[in-house]
Amino acid sequence: MPAEEFRKSAHEVVDWIADYLEGIRNYRVMPMMEPGSLVRSLPKSGPEQGEPAARILEDFRDLVIPAVNHWNHPRFFGYFSVSASHPGILGEMLMSALNVNGMLWKSCPAATELEQVTLGWLRQWLGLPEEFFGIIYDTASISTMHAIAAAREMADPEARQRGGAQNLVLYCSEQAHSSVEKGAITIGVGQRNVRKIAADDQFRLRTDLLKTAIEEDARAGKKPFCIVATVGTTSITSVDPVSEIVPLAEKHGMWLHIDGAYGGTAALVPEHRHILDGATRAHSLVINPHKWLFTPQDASVFYTRKPDILRRAFSLVAEYLRTAEDERVVNYMDYGVQLGRRFRSLKLWFVLRYFGREGIIKILRNHIAWAKELACVIDADSRFEVAAPARFSLVCFRFRGSDEQNRLLLDRINADGQAFLSHTVLNGRFVLRLAIGDIKTTREDVMETWKCISKLADTL
Ligand SMILES: Cc1ncc(COP(=O)(O)O)c(C=O)c1O
Repeated sequence: MPAEEFRKSAHEVVDWIADYLEGIRNYRVMPMMEPGSLVRSLPKSGPEQGEPAARILEDFRDLVIPAVNHWNHPRFFGYFSVSASHPGILGEMLMSALNVNGMLWKSCPAATELEQVTLGWLRQWLGLPEEFFGIIYDTASISTMHAIAAAREMADPEARQRGGAQNLVLYCSEQAHSSVEKGAITIGVGQRNVRKIAADDQFRLRTDLLKTAIEEDARAGKKPFCIVATVGTTSITSVDPVSEIVPLAEKHGMWLHIDGAYGGTAALVPEHRHILDGATRAHSLVINPHKWLFTPQDASVFYTRKPDILRRAFSLVAEYLRTAEDERVVNYMDYGVQLGRRFRSLKLWFVLRYFGREGIIKILRNHIAWAKELACVIDADSRFEVAAPARFSLVCFRFRGSDEQNRLLLDRINADGQAFLSHTVLNGRFVLRLAIGDIKTTREDVMETWKCISKLADTL
């Protein structure tokens, strides 16, 4: 592509992005489309001859965009609401342009050193001790998989050579994210050796049952090796009692990993800092800036107090990757499965610098306050019930009726196009989830969405 064509197209793209984000309220949040319609509208084979960027952009606007669910919409309240903030997008664009590979310090010193700097800032803001070594992976699922691999390395150092994960047992709450089980599958622990411990009436892992399960397994000749506690569970954002779990992990010499993929970010807010109480004694912790820290997908931050064990689990240096600086630098490829690494810290650096700690706290506080306010409003409406205390920025609620009616309500909300919500099942009942997390969301967005839900409930 000649430089001039690139310049022209890039300006067009940036203009499109700026207009898109500015006018995003004009879009339906969820597309109205039948499965397969985008596939049918595009050619079955790729073009033999190249096409001008202008034509590709035209199809992007006309064909692709109508099939997009707008995660960047301020009324996208489904799953965990995320946002690609403007500064984050700038970082992401530059990251693509540079296209460096941060596998080694030498392969791009800036990628390694900026990762160390940004994760150092974030670590301080979260109140974590300096000994926590940070690394960016793509997703929390992969971060947790690395935690489980490190746990295996600690419990059974022969496993790396021998293969398998004989006799090892992993513990998490029944509310833990499915990525924990997937990690156990990947590392060879096996689903059968994942103990899902029942949660209490606040959906927190029950430490008494955890203790019993660990002791029973140990008596039966198994090796309890890893506990995953969650700070901000996916369904309901409950927080496992990490401080109670720590002594158990320590007594049995187990690796304790904290999944704070979404909720951990709240620890940036001083009055919520306590959610990471005990986490400083955990072996590792994951927090996803691509969830509630306004950083475009994907960026998952993993901290560990035991980088040497993580390194032991993964380091394998081919001759062509040896450098003269190896003894003096961090080569991030040594701390994970992947060799090639994107320059993800660049976008996080843009976000942290642009908003600053205070700016971020202000946004998080608003989200948390609006969730609390909404929960009160819902509680006051006799047609509805709040399914669990609103913690962080998520409200779980249900229409006082059948699961079928709640499912119908959710379908109607999403089909309306003004907002997007998701669901979960709590205590066997279908529950709606409204997650606030987009940087553009206002109090009005939340309250107007409630009005819309309330009106739709009248049609049930
Ligand atoms: C608590 C928790 N952990 C892990 C994950 C997985 O995150 P990722 O998509 O980054 O793998 C999620 C996703 O929502 C989550 O809520």
